[in-house]
Amino acid sequence: MSQSPRITSDVEACAALLRKGGLVALPTETVYGLAADARNAHAVSRIFAVKGRPADHPLIVHIADVALLEEWVTHVPAYARLLATAYWPGPLTLILPKRDDVPAIVTGGQATVGIRVPNHPLALSLLRAFGGGLAAPSANRFGRVSPTTAQHVATDLTGHLDAATDVVLDGGASSIGVESTIVDCTGTLPRLLRTGAVTVEMIEATTGLDVLDADGRIRASGTLASHYAPAAAVTLVEADAATDVEARCSRLQGPVGLIADARVPTPMGVVRLHAPDSASAYARGLFEALRAADDRGVRTIVAVLPDAAGLGAAVRDRLQRAAHERS
Ligand code: TXA
Ligand code: MG
Repeated sequence: MSQSPRITSDVEACAALLRKGGLVALPTETVYGLAADARNAHAVSRIFAVKGRPADHPLIVHIADVALLEEWVTHVPAYARLLATAYWPGPLTLILPKRDDVPAIVTGGQATVGIRVPNHPLALSLLRAFGGGLAAPSANRFGRVSPTTAQHVATDLTGHLDAATDVVLDGGASSIGVESTIVDCTGTLPRLLRTGAVTVEMIEATTGLDVLDADGRIRASGTLASHYAPAAAVTLVEADAATDVEARCSRLQGPVGLIADARVPTPMGVVRLHAPDSASAYARGLFEALRAADDRGVRTIVAVLPDAAGLGAAVRDRLQRAAHERS
């Protein structure tokens, strides 16, 4: 059996490994990232190898403070500045024109770079101790659900990390549980590339501008249909049809798993995977529930969608992606 990754809570030791070109799985409030020194092209290239991710997929650069933004980008439109000031540290990634000295491997050869200040005490301590930017995609193998605990990372990356140079920094379970909102700030209006905890309504309120939809011209791996797919098939039910759940489950090949608001009862013989009592609780436990389905041999997941308010929009998005592959 392959060696499982080393797990630590020693921030200084992680900073030292990063300086030598090692990889650190980094806890954030959204999901765990797999971090390397963003100025070290060789270290960044190892991220792609460890994830099994295509090299043209750009990575997000994590920084310690909004004051460091100009070290990475050439121009910050006024509305992007408002968003950064309002939501950093937090679950928001801004796409901005990159400086020439940002390595091409970080941005997948694109002229833009994604930047975020994560809101997690250990991530911020590590960024400060390290003193530079950290390129980090979610710390899952390509095509898997994003990890929200150190244990998820260790499970996914067993046999892929090098125990001599790489480590998992354990910062507990991610408090939000779905990836950051991504806003392209290269045009005159903000353009939403990925939903997250910072909602369209929040972006509109902060900037006073309309928010555009993604038009697909910039390649974003989170938009691939199967990106969030667990091994089990996923069937979606709208909340207003939730009374249908029992009949729906009984028609499916077992074992059947259920993800639904706590008010929806679990039919006999069905494996309850998640019973959140709010949209934020739904998001926090969603990826854990998808992983648990696979661990428990569930063949079909029935998921009752939350309404789209607040984090509900991001939960609906991730579940729709998970369902897409098999539908
Ligand atoms: O919450 C998050 O954003 C987490 C944590 C670790 O920060 N990171 C994350 O990274 O989800 P990743 O690589 O799994 O997803 C980042 C997404 C990808 O879909 C990528 O294509 C897109 O951001 N992206 C990054 N840079 C971009 C750019 N310059 N232009 C367009 N899309 C970009
Ligand atoms: Mg990802």
